Amino acid sequence: MRISVIGCGYLGAVHATCMAKLGHEVVGIDVDGAKVAALSSGRAPFYEPGLNDLLAETLGTGRLRFSTEISAAAGSAVHFVAVGTPQKRTENGADLSHVHASVEALIPHLRAGDVVVGKSTVPVGTARDLSKRIAEQCPSAALAWNPEFLREGFAVRDTLEPDRLVYGLDDTNSGARLILDEVYAQALAEGRPRLLMDYETAELVKVSANAFLATKISFINAMAEVCEATGADVSMLADAIGHDARIGRKFLNAGLGFGGGCLPKDIRAFMARAGELGADQALTFLREVDSINMRRRSRMVDLAREVCGGSLLGQRIAVLGLAFKPNSDDVRDSPALSVAAQLQLQGAAVTASDPEAVPNAMRRFPDLTYTESVEEAVQNADAVLVLTEWEHYRSLDPQFLKTLVRRPAIVDGRNCLDPVAWRDAGWTYRALGRPRAAAIREADTVLASRFSEGPLSGGATAPVA
Ligand code: UDX
Repeated sequence: MRISVIGCGYLGAVHATCMAKLGHEVVGIDVDGAKVAALSSGRAPFYEPGLNDLLAETLGTGRLRFSTEISAAAGSAVHFVAVGTPQKRTENGADLSHVHASVEALIPHLRAGDVVVGKSTVPVGTARDLSKRIAEQCPSAALAWNPEFLREGFAVRDTLEPDRLVYGLDDTNSGARLILDEVYAQALAEGRPRLLMDYETAELVKVSANAFLATKISFINAMAEVCEATGADVSMLADAIGHDARIGRKFLNAGLGFGGGCLPKDIRAFMARAGELGADQALTFLREVDSINMRRRSRMVDLAREVCGGSLLGQRIAVLGLAFKPNSDDVRDSPALSVAAQLQLQGAAVTASDPEAVPNAMRRFPDLTYTESVEEAVQNADAVLVLTEWEHYRSLDPQFLKTLVRRPAIVDGRNCLDPVAWRDAGWTYRALGRPRAAAIREADTVLASRFSEGPLSGGATAPVA
């Protein structure tokens, strides 16, 4: 099948490459010449595990190419629209200018029977408007809405092995369904669920899934606030409630909260759209989800101030982690970068480190001191803050790091370290939502050794606290 993918940002670049891996003949189109040049030479302009190898492999087959010209879409049977829908500059709604511009540019190149497939995350109602526009200009082409659920860090796997395929269709057109079935033949042969629905439901599936995920994270972070007020331990709480299959342990990791290019902007755009539709009351809880999320950042700054003895002025703070989550170099709306910048603004001297995100962070906040080395970052530090849970940070040696710092104080912003190991090495250990973490764990260790078992096991995704 000949496929064009319009927009080669995060979503589009991964989608184009994966479609070529599936055996399709693909052209990725983007107005940014530098992006097209990088992708054409086998280098993704962002960090995503496995993507560069797959790019090299698929470019090598001759099935994948990139272009800055929209005319390169002519001749493809399917045209995926994967352009960005950023938050508007002055309000919360989504900026759809790229979606509209790319569909307008594509229309003159459409042929009878072509299918335009929307992948971008859009406010409900967008697909219906676009389908009318396409019908006016090219009545024999069709539109389908096929939202994408990929996570950064797992983007290749999520695209090749999706949990589910959602097709939003105009009920008068079954040709689009058949063509999408051909595109996704491999996933369908593996038995992956395919759900057919109208445009509006398909658009809502995407934004409501993200709203649910954001709510789950803010729920546990709200519990973290209560734990801080009561002396309880939010990691143990999450493990215990997560054993209930109706709740589940995934996405219950309390800490600095959510960031990135999707969840924060998507919940704000969802609220804005519900307001336009007169359904704003239905989503007022999302405002609270957003505020709980932002409060975690201030709490982190407060904890840093506390371990520094009450003032940040002149304190040397090592920040470990800048990306909005591990296995990513993305600093869009990153809680870690936001905390690092606030600390610096409040008078601390911040040295920040991250395995992948330093160049992106440096572009946003040139005033911080950056290094890729943890050892350099913590040199003579008055406090060390872990703000992104990179695997590498979980295995840091507290004994060794203690020899480098000025004051052994660590704040675990992602509940990813073992409090006992750090306290045993002589560190002051603080975490979000776990005011007495180490004391509780010491009791667990005694209990566990008494029964000659490993540490009490918790949920699937979080380290046992
Ligand atoms: C998200 C959705 O998961 C994905 O389905 C959608 O297509 C795009 O948006 P992504 O932004 O890549 O994906 O990251 P995700 O893994 O969802 O994490 C989002 C944020 O939540 C990160 O900042 C992460 O650190 C935070 N998070 C996640 C928590 O704070 N606690 C958790 O338990 C899980």
